[in-house]
Amino acid sequence: MANRPSLSASGCAVVITLLASSFTTVLTRDAPTSTDTVPGFNHSAYHDLQTIYSYMNSLPSESDLASVYSAATTYEGNDILVLRVSAVGDDSLPVVWIDCGMHGIEWIGPATCMWIIENLLNGYGADEQVTTLLNEFNFHIMPVVNPDGYDYTWTKDRLWIKNRVPDGDSLNCHGVNINRNFNISFGGYDSANRHCDDTYHGIEAFSEAESQGVRDALSNLHAMSGIKAYISIMAWGQKWMVPYGHIYEFPENMDEQLRVAEVGVKAIAELYGTQYEFGNAAIMHGGTSGTSSDWAYEVLGVPYSFSLLIRDQGLFGFFLPSQFILPTAEETWHGIAAALLATI
Ligand SMILES: *[C@@H]1O[C@H](CO)[C@@H](O)[C@H](O)[C@H]1NC(C)=O
Ligand SMILES: *[C@@H]1O[C@H](CO)[C@@H](O)[C@H](O)[C@H]1NC(C)=O
Repeated sequence: MANRPSLSASGCAVVITLLASSFTTVLTRDAPTSTDTVPGFNHSAYHDLQTIYSYMNSLPSESDLASVYSAATTYEGNDILVLRVSAVGDDSLPVVWIDCGMHGIEWIGPATCMWIIENLLNGYGADEQVTTLLNEFNFHIMPVVNPDGYDYTWTKDRLWIKNRVPDGDSLNCHGVNINRNFNISFGGYDSANRHCDDTYHGIEAFSEAESQGVRDALSNLHAMSGIKAYISIMAWGQKWMVPYGHIYEFPENMDEQLRVAEVGVKAIAELYGTQYEFGNAAIMHGGTSGTSSDWAYEVLGVPYSFSLLIRDQGLFGFFLPSQFILPTAEETWHGIAAALLATI
């Protein structure tokens, strides 16, 4: 990881102590409880882009609740797929948006989004929380925001973060960091104007298909039915963050967002004891400009706009072994479900 800026800076003794105890908990208490043996998609393993996409594309014929659309097409020609889970089957309900895989390197993100999709599809009419939530909201889930970058981590460089656009000059560097390319304090905190850097923000705000796709899909949904919550799942750090990241100021409804975030982190801890911090993004994580979550809150006025840094706290970091996928996905969903129920 030398010369790659850490996306999740946490590295103090306190964190390591906490991790040691939560790791023990994981080893002794994780007993996968559901959806680990679904034919066609093994949720206990990481999968490449093609496998994820084939499975997503197969779901509408398996379930009346599922439909798939593409939010945009990337530089390399990949669709950026979104799976809608809707019990009503139309766009009349407010939306909960969940995205994963903004950065190629974060494999636990897409794996978690895929499990959440499956859990929603299987849970309607069977699981009380899922049923309540699907009677209230339509879920739009984008498991791989950055398919070109994710694909590259499978084929060429496991550590890749950005998308794969060439820079067009002699440096021969590739890629823009999608979560620096939204038009909120574009080019500000933690954002590089050097093409080769992992935090490179792009030529201008919304220069990239990935950020355009998220923007356009969310803007559409906002106009149709409103968006109740925007949730961006990233790795790692075990933090539940609320806006703002781009300035050291609190949003107008900070107290309400924190109330719900606290419900979320308490619920996460219930399953396997995993401890999260929650709070303001800039304070917890350092100032970060051009992010999707600040954009969703500030431009669209989405009342709950959360960035979750899921497991772990750095022991494995971006290389979380596959045996932790299920417990990570289960607890992440448990937290999100509790938080969403607290907004109804
Ligand atoms: C799912 O993947 C895990 C991890 O690679 C593996 O141990 C397990 O046997 C797989 N399960 C099935 C049913 O293939
Ligand atoms: C940012 O983009 C949104 C569209 O997503 C637009 O409505 C808004 O005016 C832009 N803001 C700035 C400061 O350019």
